[in-house]
Amino acid sequence: MHLLVCGGAGYVGSHVAKVLDARGHRVTVLDNLSTGHAQAVRWGPLIRADLLDPASLDAAFQDQRFDAVLHFCARSLVGESMAAPYDYYENNVVGTLNLLQAMRRHGVDRIVFSSTAAVFGNPVAALIDEDHPKAPINPYGASKLMVERILADAAHAYGLRSVCLRYFNAAGASANDGIGESHEPETHLIPNLLRALINPAAPLKVFGEDYPTPDGTCVRDYVHVLDLADAHARALDYMEAAPGAHAFNLGNGTGFSVMQVIRAAERVTGLPVPFERAPRRAGDPPVLVAASQRAREVLEWSPTHTSIEAILRTAWDWHRAPAF
Ligand code: UFG
Repeated sequence: MHLLVCGGAGYVGSHVAKVLDARGHRVTVLDNLSTGHAQAVRWGPLIRADLLDPASLDAAFQDQRFDAVLHFCARSLVGESMAAPYDYYENNVVGTLNLLQAMRRHGVDRIVFSSTAAVFGNPVAALIDEDHPKAPINPYGASKLMVERILADAAHAYGLRSVCLRYFNAAGASANDGIGESHEPETHLIPNLLRALINPAAPLKVFGEDYPTPDGTCVRDYVHVLDLADAHARALDYMEAAPGAHAFNLGNGTGFSVMQVIRAAERVTGLPVPFERAPRRAGDPPVLVAASQRAREVLEWSPTHTSIEAILRTAWDWHRAPAF
């Protein structure tokens, strides 16, 4: 297939482009490079276009024929979304509507959408499956849930085929291919922890020590970005025979606390992680762990980099010598 990877210069999108290329697909990346990196576009040409500029989308779709779109363009910081909700709804909802309308004008009827555990809000179950109530607690999660609803409506109205993949905590890298996680500012635990190893003068801040978890720090389900990428390739295959709108939760099903991640990083790197205790970060649920049975059964998804050590090792390889 010829695939348009919107946001393919970003962290998850670039890893998906690599995996799609390896499966024999032809990849074209569309990105405005607002947070992505041109150096991460390694598996096909880059079209510089903006989802908020419909004319630039028409130009992209006019020039060539795409069999499906994979959509990773989004603002994705919870805290920032609380402070700037208009930006989040504009980028994530209006931008996506523009993309969907351009797809419709140009006869492209398949999309894989990058969604998030943030659509669930504060969990009411130990393991979060697809039927868990969706009650986002911040504009970021709300914007992603709105798009999920738009995709369901578009399936009925226009016959659009879609798969929403709700990532839990994406982590790790394909450092040998020169791609990895590179955000500025960086807010995520694993990159911040590895940066603190490289620059001990700026220790990691551990947000909160009084959560209702075994050691008082938040528990998350870390899933390797290449395993997430594999799920996208499977979602494309699945859509061939599955009309309608579908959603899958993607995680390993095992939670690690912030302190457990720190200790695992110390085992992997052989270095002590410099850290200091800090107050809770607003909007952090105590525990987020996925039930991914549906993806395993329906997509036959079977993550392979499941140990926290394997995830940390590949992230460490990247952070020691980032290509960008
Ligand atoms: N944390 C720290 N110090 C840091 C960074 C993070 O202690 O410097 C803690 C956080 O408080 C949290 C855990 O590490 O308890 C994980 O935080 P991340 O920022 O790495 O990831 P989140 O769980 O906050 O974010 C993920 C996805 C988001 C999604 C969110 C839903 O990355 O896209 O889950 O809550 F919106």
